[in-house]
Amino acid sequence: MPPQSFSRLPGFRDFVPGELALRNHVFETWRRVSTRYGFHEYDGPPLEPLGLYVEKSGEEIVEQLYNFDDKGGRPVALRPEMTPTLARILAERSRGMPKPIRWFSLPQLFRYERSQRGRLREHFQLNVDIVGESGVAADAEVLAVAVDAVRGLGLGEDDFVARVNDRRLVTRVLTALGVAADRHQDCLAVIDKASRAGADATDAKLRALGLDEVATETLGGLIADGTWEHMSQRFARAPSVLEAMRPLAEHRAILDAMGLGGYVEFDFTVVRGLAYYTGIVFELFDRAGELRAICGGGRYDRLLELVGGEPLPAVGFGMGDVVLAELLRDRGLVPPEAPACDCWIVWVGDGERDLGMSLAHRLRASGYRVMYSLRPQGLGKQLKAANRAGAAYAVIIGPDEAASASATVRDLNTGIQDTRPIESLIESGLAGDHGIAAGSGTSPSLRGGRPEQEEA
Ligand code: HAM
Repeated sequence: MPPQSFSRLPGFRDFVPGELALRNHVFETWRRVSTRYGFHEYDGPPLEPLGLYVEKSGEEIVEQLYNFDDKGGRPVALRPEMTPTLARILAERSRGMPKPIRWFSLPQLFRYERSQRGRLREHFQLNVDIVGESGVAADAEVLAVAVDAVRGLGLGEDDFVARVNDRRLVTRVLTALGVAADRHQDCLAVIDKASRAGADATDAKLRALGLDEVATETLGGLIADGTWEHMSQRFARAPSVLEAMRPLAEHRAILDAMGLGGYVEFDFTVVRGLAYYTGIVFELFDRAGELRAICGGGRYDRLLELVGGEPLPAVGFGMGDVVLAELLRDRGLVPPEAPACDCWIVWVGDGERDLGMSLAHRLRASGYRVMYSLRPQGLGKQLKAANRAGAAYAVIIGPDEAASASATVRDLNTGIQDTRPIESLIESGLAGDHGIAAGSGTSPSLRGGRPEQEEA
């Protein structure tokens, strides 16, 4: 057979070690922040019954599904989002669980989108959801997690903003403008796309939905300049609209009390594309407005019931890794790649090899990251390899050391070295108490001398 070459599918990524390190850095931050708020991690299958999305996610996502019939003839889809899976899991299990349920997950998701900057055909998403609590404090709590999950990566108030709205408020505005209830969902879809479509196209779409002059103009005004002040003035004499502004005011007051108010802005155009949202919704964007949304979420109080579970209120968000990684790269916030090695074992001749192997193994057992040349090499080449690997220490065994069951520890940053019994190296660590400075600082495990002992 002639050799065949294959390329990566469009919109999919390979994670070579440097890129995987960034992904892991983002995941570690997400996990640290979510657990700090008391959330428990869960996961589900990457393949689900097709119906779960067709019924619950809304048109846009259904068009992007990777779906097929499995070998048993079942219509299935790769998960494009996590929320229906969460609803399905809880529909089966939530009875008897203490409420509210605070769960988070880091699934890989698949959507057949047109690949572009910030949008791929697979991505990872931090999902954080509170289920079983209808009060606005839960809405504020999940938004605080989202803000902290981005802040934890080194981004601040100048870098990103959470734009917040409430679908109930938009619905009240539509009702106050005389728009029939059966047109509301279509209007939400037009508002959702308004910033990309432009004012004229949005006007035309609203008119095509049967909205009159006043309604079209008022909505156009709110889309162009939907500030809180504009809303309050325009609807000063519409008590139903003013009443619908209250949850957002309380939401804002809670976030102000947390010290996060500077990250939050009201935005009438944020209504979210997914069908299941019922209340406060939000999206996080880079302040410069160069990228697509970092994160989107909101309240979805009917989804659990719709998939056959207890009627539980729920609120949460999904934060993608793709846009966030772009932002970290733009801002120079990608951490430098850490060396994979603390210590390189060097043996001078074949006679010392077994002692070197034994020492390497014992140091690994005490938690050091240890390497050595896999083929016989001269001393110079071995030391070069140690430097190339970023090792902080070389541990050298020659005939004299072997004869006295000792080894020479060289700090590769300073060149300072001393010879110590092997037992004392294992006992007190490579930095020891012989005046050899701890490593370059690139290896946190060495800074305090001996790394933490692994559990047996
Ligand atoms: P979503 O707005 O579809 O919401 O996605 C959330 C975030 O995932 C987006 O803001 C974006 O950062 C990222 N994302 C989405 N699609 C892609 C893509 N093709 N490539 C790269 N990143 C992408 C949801 O999925 C909801 N289920 C979130 C949620 C959880 N709502 C309540 N709980």
